[in-house]
Order: sequence, then C-alpha cells, then structure tokens
Amino acid sequence: MGSSKPTFSDNSDSTIDSLGSRTITSPLQHRRFVEDRSRILYDTSAERLRERLDETGEIMTFEEAGPRDKLFFDPLNARAAIVTCGGLCPGTNDVIRSVVHTLTYGYGVRIIKGVQYGYSGLNPDSKLPFVDLTPDVVRSIHQNGGTFLGSSRGPQPTDVLVDTLYREDIRLLFVIGGDGTLRGADEIYREVKSRGLSMAVIGIPKTIDNDIGVVSRTFGFDTAVNKAVDALQAAHVEARGAVNGIGIVKLMGRHAGFVTAHASLASADANFVLVPEVPFDLEGPRGFLSALEKRLEIRDHALVVVAEGAGQNLFDEELGKDASGNAILGNIGVLLRERIKQYFSERGVEHSVKYIDPSYMIRSVPANANDRIFCGFLGQYAAHAAMAGKTGLLIGSWNNLFIHVPLGLAVSKHKRIDPEGVIWTSVLEATGQPGRMLND
Ligand code: F6P
Repeated sequence: MGSSKPTFSDNSDSTIDSLGSRTITSPLQHRRFVEDRSRILYDTSAERLRERLDETGEIMTFEEAGPRDKLFFDPLNARAAIVTCGGLCPGTNDVIRSVVHTLTYGYGVRIIKGVQYGYSGLNPDSKLPFVDLTPDVVRSIHQNGGTFLGSSRGPQPTDVLVDTLYREDIRLLFVIGGDGTLRGADEIYREVKSRGLSMAVIGIPKTIDNDIGVVSRTFGFDTAVNKAVDALQAAHVEARGAVNGIGIVKLMGRHAGFVTAHASLASADANFVLVPEVPFDLEGPRGFLSALEKRLEIRDHALVVVAEGAGQNLFDEELGKDASGNAILGNIGVLLRERIKQYFSERGVEHSVKYIDPSYMIRSVPANANDRIFCGFLGQYAAHAAMAGKTGLLIGSWNNLFIHVPLGLAVSKHKRIDPEGVIWTSVLEATGQPGRMLND
C-alpha cells in the first residue's frame, strides 16, 4: 500500500466543470436528488484498485449523474438546442424525445431548438433553420429509426458554430454523437469557456461501434447486435445447406470489433471471428485459410464473421478519406469471399460460399426495448446535468451506473477489444478458432 493518504473525492482528470453556483430550487417533483460528492468507482476489481492506490495514492472516481436539488439555470430563461451528428444509430430519436420531455415537463423549459443535419445546421452558410421541439412534435419519433433532425459528418469551424449559438441565446447544448462529434463538442465547450459564455455543453455517446473511452456502453449498440444476429443465423443456415458451405457475414466496425464479437457470441454458431484489434494472416500454414480448411475437414461447414476494419493490411491501395477524415476501408468481406473461393478451387475441394453484408440495416432500425430504456436515462441525465450548470461532459454508463465524464477525457481514450480480455477469450472459447492465425 502506498504511504500517502488516499484521496477519495476527486481526480484532476475526472473533475467536472461548472458554470457557477446553483441558487435556483429544482422544480422536479420526485426529489430523488444526487449530491456532487456522490462518486462512482472506476475500478471494479479490488486488485486494480489496490494497484492504483499503490501507484498514485488515489482512487479513481467519477461524479454520479442525476438531478441536483439546486439549479444554475432558471428554467424560464434557459433556451436549449439539440444536435445529432455522424452515422445513424438506433435510439437517437429516443434520446431527443427524452431530453425534450425532461426539460419541458420536469423543469418547465419553454424553448428547445432542434439543429438540422448535424454541425452543419449551426453554420449559417447551410441556411438550415432550427426546428422547434416540443413534446407534441417529438410525440412518436421514437418509433422510427434514424434521426428526426437529420445528421451529417465532418467538422465545421468552431468559432462559427459558437457565434450561432450565442446569437440564438442558447444556454443548454446537447450534442448526440460518436467519437468525432464529441471531439467537436469538446472544442465548442472550450471556445464557449474562453469567451466566458454561460452555456452548458453536454455530450451523449451514440455509436453502434461501442468504442468510446470511459463508457461501458453507447446507445444503439445493443440494437445493432440484435439485428446483426439475424444475418449470422441466415449465413449459418446457408452454410449448413451445402457441402462445405461457408457463410461469411461482414459487419460494421471500423476500428473496434464489438458488434462482430457480440453478435458472434449471441448467435453461438460462428466458427471464425475476425476483428480489427486482432491481426491475422490469410495464407500460410498457420493462416486463416488453412484453419478454415481444417474446420471443413472436420465439420464440413463454417460461419465466418468479419468486422469491416479487420485485415486492412491485406489491401495494397489507399482509398482516400471520408468526410470524417477516416481512411476509406478496403472491402474485407468481398476479399475473403474471393480468396476463399480461389483457395478451395485451386485445391479441387467442392465448396459453396454465401456472403451477406447487412451493412446499414443494423443501424437504421428503431431501438430495441433495452436501448430504449437506456436512451431514456441518457436523455434525462443529460437534461439534469445541463440544468445544474455542469458543462464539458459526457453522460457515461459505467458498470450500470450513470456518470459525468469530462469530454476531453472521453475523447482522449478509445475503447477497443482487448485480445487478452474477457470478450476475446470468450470468442475463442465459443468458436474454437486458433488463438493466433499468424505465421511468425
Ligand atoms: O457509426 C459508426 C459506423 O457504424 C462505423 O462502424 C462505420 O465505418 C461507419 O459508421 C459507416 O458510416 P457511414 O457510411 O455513414 O460513414
């Protein structure tokens, strides 16, 4: 144990910024208020907790999310805006609706603006008017996939966005998005702060990829996994229906293979799972094709599930960048399909390859029940944080509790599958695939 006295209350990098002292009594009826000193442990393993104490003399904690009994903003003067950015994601409309309901019914906020088509709707050049959001307007939007407000990718000049927010007298800004969007929100927060404006900037983590740092779960992930399982089941049935049938499913997941791994675990039929975090060789005695051949010899069918970001080293050509600045990916699903066919044809082995790419189908659907409940919480906690004058934060879910994560911290860390961790170990156990498909 370290000799210095442990600090339980605060960690410099998890401190949440605040716009000022809170003097207004909350009008919330239920009165289940949370105090700022209520903090949630980051480490759940006693061993890790002890190690951290030894290393730093501190216990890493985060502020608990939830309604505060005193508010910074007077609801009557608090104008809010909601913006949704990046790729579509199940549950976005549920979050919008939850924020609108909590602000209106819980706090009595009267003006809530919807920004159209992501950050571009905050740039006057786009000439996109704000949309008035009321409980009536958002009444049934949760029944639809997509985003009621529209979305877009790519950054916009931060000073221009803040000029617009200032001109519109927006005091509460809710940004619903993934990694790049939240980086943009962090820049807005910093610009607002440097100008000394009283505006709360609150992020809500949205991505089917579930790859945002210091957040156990992002909304939309659960629904996307559910939907992806349908594709795996279809590919498995097809594979079983032919001699040496090989079903291949390609799923979204640019940098992180969580959807692929979880859908594979849920289907329980996958034999090979390929994700960006775990490199593999295609050819050679210990490569994927050789392992697939062995599998067919024993079981005469196979289901291969691959994340779009896996095996990118197999492509020679660079394909440029998308609007978010991400490298355009080579199509690993198609490459696998062609190389598998070639491999078995050259060896005179009868085979039948069935390739399914559900693509946008897994993220354009309405949220499932589990994500709906989750989205409801996220929207409520975002509204509570903003009304309390907290800013520069992300509403995070951590071990089934809700916390405030500084935006800067969340965007500085990426969540990835740990090849030594529980998820990947479970995938290896469930599939029986070799732990390492590399020749060296
Ligand atoms: O939302 C993240 C994501 O699902 C990634 O997995 C994928 O690479 C990307 O969206 C594709 O979205 P778009 O085609 O809209 O850029």
